[in-house]
Amino acid sequence: MLIRTEIGVDAPSIDSLLRRCFASSAEAELVQQLREDGLLTLGVVATDDEGQVLGYAAFSPVTLNGEDKQWVGLAPLAVDESVRGQGLGKQLIYEGLDTLNEFGYAAVVVLGDPAFFGRYGFEPASRHQLRCHRPETEATFQVYKLADEALVGVEGNIEYSTPFNRS
Ligand SMILES: CC(C)(COP(=O)(O)OP(=O)(O)OC[C@H]1O[C@@H](n2cnc3c(N)ncnc32)[C@H](O)[C@@H]1OP(=O)(O)O)[C@@H](O)C(=O)NCCC(=O)NCCS
Repeated sequence: MLIRTEIGVDAPSIDSLLRRCFASSAEAELVQQLREDGLLTLGVVATDDEGQVLGYAAFSPVTLNGEDKQWVGLAPLAVDESVRGQGLGKQLIYEGLDTLNEFGYAAVVVLGDPAFFGRYGFEPASRHQLRCHRPETEATFQVYKLADEALVGVEGNIEYSTPFNRS
């Protein structure tokens, strides 16, 4: 399995993976919209020998109190059922964090199960007085600091980009 940054020809295979992995087409449509709107900061794929995408992680910009602080949100993350439990999810997350760190991004947020993302260094955003604008997300909203000072003196509302409001 190869873990690398998404390129143009991966789009149909990513779309197919997301439609297989989630109960609705919302995630696939979200990624299409982010791509169309130029809001895919980074996409990381896991591909097999034939180039088929079996894992995917997307990162797109979020704002803090309406300001661009070079923060991004991780969503969606998906691994094909046939290859789950082999560490692909972990590799996609780490590859994404490494690349974003190299690019100079400051922090990554995620809405997801703390039992999963907590393993990879994400911590509750509420610990830093950070909230997601979506209701009832206090327990699942998490943050990962890339830049040393990213979480110093911050608090407030994180907002995802417009395509997330449609999904
Ligand atoms: C979540 C997902 C990406 C994990 O992919 P993966 O390649 O199996 O992940 P890894 O192999 O790195 O890690 C698997 C481990 O995480 C655990 N895990 C998976 N989902 C979990 C969850 N929601 N909560 C806690 N642990 C979870 C597995 O039990 C496994 O544990 P083990 O290593 O002790 O056996 C995959 O299950 C998936 O695509 N699910 C459907 C889409 C989804 O829910 N995405 C997350 C949305 S934020």
